[in-house]
Parts: sequence; C-alpha cells; structure tokens
Amino acid sequence: MNTHQQQPWWSHAVFYQVYPRSFADSNGDGVGDLDGVVSGLDYLKSLGIEAIWLNPVWVSPMADHGYDVADPRDVDPLFGGLAALERLIAGAHERGIKVTMDLVPNHTSSAHPWFKEALAAGPGTGARDRYIFRDGRGTGGVEPPNNWVSVFGGPAWTQVTEPDGKPGQWYLHLFDIEQPDLNWDNPEVFDDFEKTMRFWLERGVDGFRLDVAHGMAKPPGLPDMEHLDNQLLRAKGEDPRFDQAGVHEIHRGIRGVIDDYPGAVTIGEVWVHDNARWADYMRADELHLGFNFRLVQADFDADDIHDAIQNSLEAAAIVNTTPTWTLANHDVEREVTRYGGGSIGLDRARAMAMVMLALPGAVFIYNGEELGLPNVDLPDEVLQDPRWERSGHTVRGRDGCRVPLPWHGDTPPFGFSTCADTWLPIPRDWKALTVDKQLADTGSTLAFFRRALELRRTRVEFTGDQIEWLSAPRGTLIFRCGALVCALNANKGPLALPEGELILSSAPLVGGQLAENAAAWLV
Ligand code: NOJ
Repeated sequence: MNTHQQQPWWSHAVFYQVYPRSFADSNGDGVGDLDGVVSGLDYLKSLGIEAIWLNPVWVSPMADHGYDVADPRDVDPLFGGLAALERLIAGAHERGIKVTMDLVPNHTSSAHPWFKEALAAGPGTGARDRYIFRDGRGTGGVEPPNNWVSVFGGPAWTQVTEPDGKPGQWYLHLFDIEQPDLNWDNPEVFDDFEKTMRFWLERGVDGFRLDVAHGMAKPPGLPDMEHLDNQLLRAKGEDPRFDQAGVHEIHRGIRGVIDDYPGAVTIGEVWVHDNARWADYMRADELHLGFNFRLVQADFDADDIHDAIQNSLEAAAIVNTTPTWTLANHDVEREVTRYGGGSIGLDRARAMAMVMLALPGAVFIYNGEELGLPNVDLPDEVLQDPRWERSGHTVRGRDGCRVPLPWHGDTPPFGFSTCADTWLPIPRDWKALTVDKQLADTGSTLAFFRRALELRRTRVEFTGDQIEWLSAPRGTLIFRCGALVCALNANKGPLALPEGELILSSAPLVGGQLAENAAAWLV
C-alpha cells in the first residue's frame, strides 16, 4: 500500500467520468441511465478507479444534455429518477467507490420554475432579478444590451415577449438560449445553491464538479467585450464574461457549506489560462481541486507535453494545491483521434495515459478512454450538440466523443442497450473494442489500463509528490516521481530505457528498447 493515506482521499484518486447517456442503458430506450451505471459498478471496481464523476442527471429538457437544469434537486426520469441515484450511491459505496457529481451554478434551464416566473412577472420584479435581464439598446430596445457572444455561437442575449405580448427585455445566456445565466448578486441564488448542495451531500454524495466555476460573477455595467471570441479558454485575460473578481466570494461561500461535510470535495471547471489567476480559485478557502486543461491541449510532442506538465505543476504550486490531470472529457475530441488516429493514435493515447498516471495528484479518466475509443465522425442528421445549430452548422460540436460504450457482441448496439436505435449510433467496427473482447485479450487497452491502475494503487513507488526531469534525448521525456521513473518516447526510432526494473510499458519493447509512441515505468 502506498502512503497517500495521510492525505484526503481525493489527493491521489483516479476519478472515472461517467457520461450517463453513454455508459449503459438499463431500460431499452437507447439512452444510458443510472441503473445502467449500477450494472457497471463491478466493471469499474475491477478497473481500479476510486471515484466516479457523474455528468448531470437532474431534471432537464436536455437542450445541453442536462447542463440545462430545470430542477437541481431531482433526477430526470430519463435517467431513472432519484431512487436510481440512491441505488448508485449505495452500490458504489459498498464497493468503496466515491460518487461525485456535477453542479451547474452559472445558469439554469429556461424550463426552471424561476425562469418561467421571471417571464410571467415582467420587468423590475424580484423574479426577474434572479436572472440577468436588461433593456435593449437602440430605439425601442431592439439591440442586445451589449455585444457579448454565446460560447455556443451567436449573441449571448435573447429578447423576450413580455406578458402584454410586446417584445421586451433581453436575458443573458453565455451558453445556449435555453440556459439563462443566474444573477449571483441576488442572495436567493446562493441560498438555493446551498440548499442543493446540502440536499445531495445529505444523500451521501462525496463532492461536486462545479460547471463553469470561473463564471457566475458578472462585471458591473456589463461592459462590451473587446475581443469577440467564443472560446472558453482565452490566451490573455480580459473577457468580461468570465473570471471576474466577484467569483471568489461565491467560492468562499460554497466552501463554507462543503466544510460542514468532512471529506467532501469540490472540483472546479476553471478555464483560466493565467496561472496566478487560476491558482486563486484553489486558495485554502475556495475549491479543493481545479481542472487544468493544458495537457488536453498539448500535442503529442515532447516539448509541448513537458511544458504542459511543468506549467500545471507550477500553477498548482502557487497555492500548494493538488494538481489534476486529464486527457479527455465530454467536451473535447477523444485523444486517440487527437494524437493522429488509428494504431498510432491509440499507441500515443496509451503512452500518455502512463504519463498522466505517473504524475502526482488526481487523475480523471473519461468513460471509454480505457477502451481506447476514438472520436466518431457522425453524419449531420444525428448531431445533437447545441453548438451545431447555434453555429449555423459550422461547428460540429461534441457528439463525436459521446458515442455510447460497446460492451459485448458483434453488432451495434454491442450490449449498450436492447434498443438498436441508440441516441447516437455506434460504429460497426467497434466490435473489436467491446469490453468483453478486451477482457479476453491480455494485450488490449482495457487490460493495459487495469494493470496500470493496479500498479498506481498498490506499488509503494507511486508516493511522490514532486517530479524531477531527468536528462532525455530530444523528442523524449524522462521524469522521476517518488521512486518511479516514467519515460515517454515521442521521437522517431527506439529509446534506450533508463536504469531500473521495468514494471510496465504501453507497447512491447523493441530489441530491449522503448518503441516510438510508447511509454514505460521503471522502479
Ligand atoms: C461545461 C460543460 O462541461 C459543458 O458540457 C457544458 O455545455 C457547459 N459547461 C455549459 O454548462
């Protein structure tokens, strides 16, 4: 056993992100659900993860697949209702697996009772003040109140029809039209959020991933954007929509609630590029953990990977927070495809998994990553991501990384569902990638992940909390963390292994050397 036991459970945990629509479908409607996740708990246990991060399952019209929340204190029937979540929490805890889940503080669904009330109540009312309603600019208020754009494309404002039937005020939505931004200056918003946190923590949830944790606070006067850019991560500061000073007061309030539940963790989605500003969110009285997306953005290039790791470590060190690592999630292209696709992309993805798992801190694996799933090029007619519509069919969106998991059998839907018409189609050639096939093959990506996670969990060498870069030929990386040495070969041609006993390599050695696009662990 390693010695991370003195530290909070999450400081070295491997989180497994479950995208509930895509994990497993228990009721044959073609969409994954919570009892599907319950049926996969033994699989997750044997994979060797410590915690689940569950994407949204709350009552929602699903305009953004649950990130448009109509009732944050109930589970959508599509996912099996509250009782199914209770079954999942109990089943996970029985197996020693923690359950963390998304919370969405920045916005609600337009189907939330508050928003309906705001529309009905009209301008200047308390109900409107829970959201960000403004009069329009120009004669008759026909122009949006400012020039902000939605992250999903198009303007961030939509004009409403007032109760008298006339065009009226505009409301802010940094994401989809159906995701109105809340007004965090209104104390009712925090009070309700606190109620939601306590509701789930009392039901045994072990923590939250906070969506758009750098959102919420808006600058006084809502000044225009200088650079019209709808990327979540801007290279240089100054985007009035995000990372405003007032957000930290909100996080301190959230932390005050969480601290009533020892062991509960908050993980923020903090798309903030500047290290010092990013670190501010992880101060002792704010979030426990923050996603750092540098590694997701790095190419399969030794310098790029080195810089991403070094940068993330430096950002975390500013406030002595635990670093976090992730290669994929439900918003980005799967890494097998990002790294070049085919067998090269898969080799590289496996190698990068070893790099990530060798680093100090918490790791997040996205469902299907352990199977080496690639992104899927889906036909136009099945696309569902709001980015596709909102961008006028220019941005295809994120559906390609959300295709349901293949479990067994030779034809779609590969045991994911009893319904052939799954919410996104599963490619026929995933028959080689099913869980069953990979369990039967000691050389499979799944077998590799299980072995890597077992080593990380059980070997004493994985206790380091600092890394030391060792000298390495150009195009390669070698670092030590604790008593573990990790080597990555992103070069052309094989790499002579450093000293030590080899405990795992992502690909067979070639003449005793590490093949290109491979990684090795030595002790
Ligand atoms: C970030 C989530 O990861 C993404 O899926 C979602 O669309 C936006 N936040 C809006 O809630």
